Amino acid sequence: MLEVAGLESGYGRSKVLFGVDLAVAPGEMVTLMGRNGMGKTTLVKSVTGLVRPSGGRISLRGQAIHGLAAHRIGALGLGLVPEGRHVFPTLTVEENLVATAANRTGHAAPWTLQRVFALFPRLHERRRQKARTLSGGEQQMVAIGRALMINPHLLILDEATEGLAPLIRLEIWNCLERLKAEGQAILVIDKNIDHLMRIADRHYVMEKGRIVWSGRSDDLSRDKLRVEAYVGV
Ligand SMILES: Nc1ncnc2c1ncn2[C@@H]1O[C@H](COP(=O)(O)OP(=O)(O)OP(=O)(O)O)[C@@H](O)[C@H]1O
Ligand SMILES: [Mg+2]
Repeated sequence: MLEVAGLESGYGRSKVLFGVDLAVAPGEMVTLMGRNGMGKTTLVKSVTGLVRPSGGRISLRGQAIHGLAAHRIGALGLGLVPEGRHVFPTLTVEENLVATAANRTGHAAPWTLQRVFALFPRLHERRRQKARTLSGGEQQMVAIGRALMINPHLLILDEATEGLAPLIRLEIWNCLERLKAEGQAILVIDKNIDHLMRIADRHYVMEKGRIVWSGRSDDLSRDKLRVEAYVGV
């Protein structure tokens, strides 16, 4: 699904990623963890075309995507739930969901408003409300719903539960679990090792722009203390 090899990236002269290798297989849920400022968002931005990588290769379903513009990468089936959500504040919930909707990936059962509302019933109640008046958790649900409406081959969530109350956090994770059960490939950036260990297949830990640990969930449970030290929880 996604293959990142030897990725180098950064901002102008300041280099942030130093040869990152990471892969997500079809139907897999993979996490990327690490302390603040280690380069997780820079990796996400490089993969989605928001930052231009300076070296390495990125491919989505076998097609090289490094260096392509963000809208072209989106059209190839990469759905992003960005850090900080970035919903369109003056649009309603429903307008946010349909704003970028498309079935360019030829999904057999494409996402519809009805399916997003079934996943997040509280968005249905608030479908005519302006996004800026929603709670943080509700905005996060809009951001996820909006990314699903492009029918992505791969869904990437950058800190999807950051700053949310425990119950809302759980609701988001339950949603990810349901999506995974439906075969959706997911890359999730998060710091909640305990919960992610239960729902994801594999994990990567990043430190100072390098992958310093990777493994399956059972490896993670054996190596938990070491990973916790890297992630700083
Ligand atoms: N637009 C930018 N211009 C210059 N430097 C940047 C920019 N964005 C991020 N950086 C720097 O790149 C490094 C990695 O930042 P990044 O946002 O990728 O970290 P992160 O792992 O996502 O952190 P967090 O957990 O806080 O979200 C940091 O040193 C940061 O200051
Ligand atoms: Mg980040």
